[in-house]
Amino acid sequence: MESVNEKTVRDLASSNPAAARIFEKYGIDCCCSGEKSLAQACGTAGVSLQEVAEALEKPQAQSRDRGWANASLTELSQHIVNKHHAFVRQEIKRLVPLFAKVVEAHGKNHPELEQMQSSFRALADELAMHLMKEEGMLFPYVEQLEDAANRGRRAAPPMFGTVQNPVRMMMMEHDSAGEILRKMRQAASNYTLPEDACMNFRMLYQALQEFEMDLHQHIHLENNILFPRAIELETAKG
Ligand SMILES: [Fe+2]
Ligand SMILES: [Fe+2]
Repeated sequence: MESVNEKTVRDLASSNPAAARIFEKYGIDCCCSGEKSLAQACGTAGVSLQEVAEALEKPQAQSRDRGWANASLTELSQHIVNKHHAFVRQEIKRLVPLFAKVVEAHGKNHPELEQMQSSFRALADELAMHLMKEEGMLFPYVEQLEDAANRGRRAAPPMFGTVQNPVRMMMMEHDSAGEILRKMRQAASNYTLPEDACMNFRMLYQALQEFEMDLHQHIHLENNILFPRAIELETAKG
């Protein structure tokens, strides 16, 4: 078991398709704390290292995640766009009016809702730009890199110098999005529903938790799999 404890969260998340889900369950941040060892990350999250290590070592027959570590980068980036980017856009569209209804009905008794609403607006604006940068600039270059490598060539140098520049920027933006969601969760007392919560209130809290979980999975695929592999591909001697 010792070997698992010493591994970094990032290594575990990229080699075990079920790990991201297990980390989510135990409140271990696998997007922004990828460099930490499992032992350190469990300490930060205040959870039992032994319990997490055992969950990681159990065979996960029920896992619906596929192992992306061996998929092509083109396949992975298309999956990210089709599944996660589409989900972010769809949910923002749905949650903006839902937030307005809940704030209108409950904002007086629950002032934290208004604070969360403005955080969510800021998050929605940041994410809209972020997705555009990935889809318009970074992902097409990653696909070009892979296509060139498959044909035994080197890709033409990109306008942004090296893939490491947009990757660094995207990772900073991921940290910022993660931070906003953390603050929202805190303001919502871990999404504990108050007794007077109506149907819309429940729907909103449920949706925000799903939004957070999906974003963590999404950031994990980028930070821990897509980006490191793209950097490796670019630096490999052709
Ligand atoms: Fe993305
Ligand atoms: Fe991203």
